[in-house]
Amino acid sequence: MNSLERTAAALVCDGKGILAADESVGTISKRFEALGIHSSQELRRQYRELLLGAPGIEAHVSGAILYDETIRQEASDGRRFPEVLAARGILTGIKVDTGAKPLAGAPGETVTEGLDGLRERIEHYRALGAAFAKWRAVLTIGSDKPTEAGIGANAHALGRYAALCQEGGLVPVVEPEILMGGDHDLACCYQVAHRVLARVFAELRANNVDLRAMILKPSMVMPGSSGPPAGVEDIAAATIGCLMDNVPASVPGVAFLSGGQGALLATLHLDAVARSGPHPWKVTFSFGRAIQDDPLGTWRGLEANVEEARAVLLERLEWCSAASVGAYASGA
Ligand code: G3H
Repeated sequence: MNSLERTAAALVCDGKGILAADESVGTISKRFEALGIHSSQELRRQYRELLLGAPGIEAHVSGAILYDETIRQEASDGRRFPEVLAARGILTGIKVDTGAKPLAGAPGETVTEGLDGLRERIEHYRALGAAFAKWRAVLTIGSDKPTEAGIGANAHALGRYAALCQEGGLVPVVEPEILMGGDHDLACCYQVAHRVLARVFAELRANNVDLRAMILKPSMVMPGSSGPPAGVEDIAAATIGCLMDNVPASVPGVAFLSGGQGALLATLHLDAVARSGPHPWKVTFSFGRAIQDDPLGTWRGLEANVEEARAVLLERLEWCSAASVGAYASGA
């Protein structure tokens, strides 16, 4: 195993997963504002310290994904956040895309940008302590969407990003997110996820990406948020069926995003997916909102609430950790 393969394996080791705390300034500001928290650079730093400095998270978290602002910030004791994480054996990840922008010629679709200057940014982030990276492609289901152009442009960018990461010594987390919005059913999401994953892996191969040294971060296969509901076991079966058809066994791990599902539902779905094994790859979490929403709502920007918010954070991570080995529902 080379060092990139070891890093990828460490990210998905049994019972651990990834804490996604890489919201851009704009995104975290919206989440703060919804709770009446003023989004200053200092309050964002305090919030990230609440998460990344919480005692005990290392039992459940293998890696934490940061945003550019956070990877440069320091905890109250003067250590930079990557050092805070490394001291507890947690790998630092970094969001390297620059966001989804409208895709010309494909109304209503986006392509994620950020390839320009990426080689240099990767070198810089490695020097700041990053061991892995993330790039999020966004696909929307709607009438005649996503188009082949939308899927192709996003898959191609993911392939080029992943190749650049491996060249520069970072493990790429490859995230093709299919948004939950819409009134489509489970079968429709399955078909779209199938098309997307097939194209993503074709582009990864075309760009000579070493599949043993990457992590896939997909959305679960689910009906649209206003579509006909599906049960936990049906969602797990559709998700695993789609992955089994498209994700080669050489990929070490699949770390799901939560996509706006609540903490409990995301946990139950991951648990059911894990129970449906054995699979050729590890399955685990790389949740943002499903881990953070409750601790953020507990904190509300107040120092006096840090301890309680950290207790909630730890509980959510315990849920995710148990679910990643299929032991949440059984309480094992
Ligand atoms: O890019 C998305 C995040 O890394 C995961 O966030 O779990 O809230 O979808 P989410």
